[in-house]
Amino acid sequence: MSLFTNISKLSTTIGAEINDFDLKNVSKDDVQEFRAILSEHKVIFFPDQELTIEEHVAFGELFGELEGHPHINNPNVKHPKIFELAASTGGIADEWHTDLTFQKRPALMSILKMTAAPDVGGDTMWTDLVAAFKAMSKPMQDLCSSITALHDASPHMHPEKMMIHPVVRKHPDTGEAVLYVNEHFTRRIVELSHEESEQLLSFLTKWVQKPDFSVRYKWSKNTIAIWDNRSTQHLVVNNFEGERIIQRVTVTGDIVEPFGELNHDAWGNNNKFSAKSRNDLQLIGYLDSQKENH
Ligand SMILES: [Fe+2]
Repeated sequence: MSLFTNISKLSTTIGAEINDFDLKNVSKDDVQEFRAILSEHKVIFFPDQELTIEEHVAFGELFGELEGHPHINNPNVKHPKIFELAASTGGIADEWHTDLTFQKRPALMSILKMTAAPDVGGDTMWTDLVAAFKAMSKPMQDLCSSITALHDASPHMHPEKMMIHPVVRKHPDTGEAVLYVNEHFTRRIVELSHEESEQLLSFLTKWVQKPDFSVRYKWSKNTIAIWDNRSTQHLVVNNFEGERIIQRVTVTGDIVEPFGELNHDAWGNNNKFSAKSRNDLQLIGYLDSQKENH
C-alpha cells in the first residue's frame, strides 16, 4: 500500500500537495517511495507539520548528507545544517534559480519549512525544467544538448566562485533531459560568442519561466515543501508586507552529467585575434584557471 493516500496534483506536470501525512513518522524504509514521488511531481507540499529544528535536520539526513549555505548567515537559528532566510533582514529569493548551481555539486534536493508566512502574497513558484526541454523544437534541443554554460556566485558577492555545467543535464534518477540554465547564476554559454550567448541565454532563461511549465503555491505556517533541485527552478513572489521566514535543509548534490554529446570547443579556441574582448575575460580567465589546476 502506498505511503501517501491523499495526493492532489497542483498542475499538469509539476507540484502535488499531500495531506493527512506526518513527516515525523518517516523512516529510512520510506526513502525510496519519497524519491519516486518526488521524481514524478518535482515539488511536494506537506501542510501542518510540527517538526522541530532537530527533527527537520534528521528528516533531511534520511536522503543524504546535508550542507549549510556557503555564503549567507542565518538571522535567528544558529544550526550549521539549517539555512534560514527572513524577509525582515533582506532575505528574499525573488529571481528564478536552481539552488547553488555555481557549485561543482549543486544541491540535490531542498526541504523547506515555512515558519512565518504573510497573510497575503509571498507565494513561491517552481518551474519544470523537464517540461521546458520537451516543449522546445528538435533543432533547439540538439543545440542546447551539445553546449555548456558558466555559472557564478556573483549574486552572493562571490563572482570568483564559478562552475561549468552542461546546458542540458541528464536526470540521474529518471534519465530525462533537464534544461539547466537560470537567470540568477548562469552567465555565459561557453562555446558561443558573447553576442550569441547573450541572445540564447536570454531566450532560455525566459523560456523556462513560461506559465505552462510552472506551479504557484500559497503558503501557510508549518507547511513543508520538498523539491527536486535537479529538475526545477523557483522564485519567491516579492509582493508581500510583513515577515516571512523560511528554514531549509539542503541535501548535497551529485556531479551534473550531460544529456547529449558535448562536441564543441570553448569560444576563444578558434579566435584569430590576439586581443581579447572584455566580454570574454571572465570565461577565458576561468578556463585558464582550470588548465592550471590540472
Ligand atoms: Fe532557492
